[in-house]
Amino acid sequence: MAVSVPSPKVGRHPVQTPPPVAADQAPTAPASLWGWLDDRLGLSALRYHIPAHANTIWYTLGGITFMGIVVLVVTGAWLSQYYNPDPIAARESVLYIQNVAPLGDILRGIHVWTAYLVVITAALHLIRVFVTASYKVPREVNWLVGAALLGMLYFGAVFSGTMLRWDQEAYEAMAHNMELASFLGAVGGFFSHTFTTSVSMLPRLYGLHVSIVPLLLVLLLIAHFFLIKHHGISPTPAQAERGEAPGGRLPRAKETGHYPTHLRMMVGYGLALLGLAGMLSVVFPQEIGPAADPTMEVTKPPFVFYWVYPFEDWFGVRGMLYAILGLWAFLAALPFVDRTPYRGLRQRPVVVAVGLALLVAVLALSVMTAVKPPVAHIGG
Ligand code: HEM
Repeated sequence: MAVSVPSPKVGRHPVQTPPPVAADQAPTAPASLWGWLDDRLGLSALRYHIPAHANTIWYTLGGITFMGIVVLVVTGAWLSQYYNPDPIAARESVLYIQNVAPLGDILRGIHVWTAYLVVITAALHLIRVFVTASYKVPREVNWLVGAALLGMLYFGAVFSGTMLRWDQEAYEAMAHNMELASFLGAVGGFFSHTFTTSVSMLPRLYGLHVSIVPLLLVLLLIAHFFLIKHHGISPTPAQAERGEAPGGRLPRAKETGHYPTHLRMMVGYGLALLGLAGMLSVVFPQEIGPAADPTMEVTKPPFVFYWVYPFEDWFGVRGMLYAILGLWAFLAALPFVDRTPYRGLRQRPVVVAVGLALLVAVLALSVMTAVKPPVAHIGG
């Protein structure tokens, strides 16, 4: 006799089909780790639409600079565990980093070389923005934020960092810093011994290097990235000329670039920058000079500051201040002086000629300093 097997539907415990769930209430099953994180943290809000031309190295230089800043923060955090900002102990603590601290010499080398490299990548990024006329409407304010970022990175972070090793070169840099600050009157008051007698200049400078400057850099970076997302990446001069970007903004349909590729390029080039800094720190290790002798002036600044040095020969310490202020005044005025809608190089002959002359001057002055022996200006 055949035994009939009851169907589950007709057994004592029938299987219930769950009631249908509205689509917007259905539990999502993110396919990837990114999906899972995005679901919880809203990471895709940071994403922005990019045109295809943004996936080239020229439009990744800002991102590479950002990656360099990340390397500076990480290596700097390690160095801060061993550095002692007391003027009596500072130089010794740098020797400790070089000779005793685990990975100290290589991480110090990477920190210092990355600092010089980000000045170069930031300058190349500025040149790209200048060449593509991306400082024009509606990105004038972001250009100013960028100029402030460069100033903060160059003088706030890199120049203050060169003084921390507290050897002869650092001491001379500090003497110049104090002299320059005295010309700035109340604005430069922070860099004077009279600002406070409770703590000396070096620990205050260290405080600036590790807390105030990074905080300001982060605030400026937030503003910079917010404005990049807000405006979108600028059109190429050719696109602008063809009238494809009314008001300097590309329509969404033209923003066909693949964003993950952009991020991958940023990280990839960032790692290459780290590799280059690592290689340079092995081939050209960061030395530490002799203990400071306040009666002498015998060193030159690091090469990224070479272009300012001849102004001191010609016009005294004040000359350096004027050169720096002059360059930043040009950067600040540019988007408000060049108000034509043209973005091609040939259509902006005056601005391009001035920009080119400044670039050639910076390079020529740097080479001049490189080949000349150092000259005493202060206390010599
Ligand atoms: C110093 C650190 C800086 C960082 C980390 C940074 C980062 C970035 C990034 C990631 C972008 C997106 C496109 C790209 O990478 O080219 C960008 C765009 C831009 N940056 Fe910077 N930047 C810095 C400095 C500067 C400077 C010195 C200037 C100019 C004075 C500047 C002006 C601009 C402008 C106007 C844009 C929009 C360009 C466009 O839409 O084509 N930035 N920046």
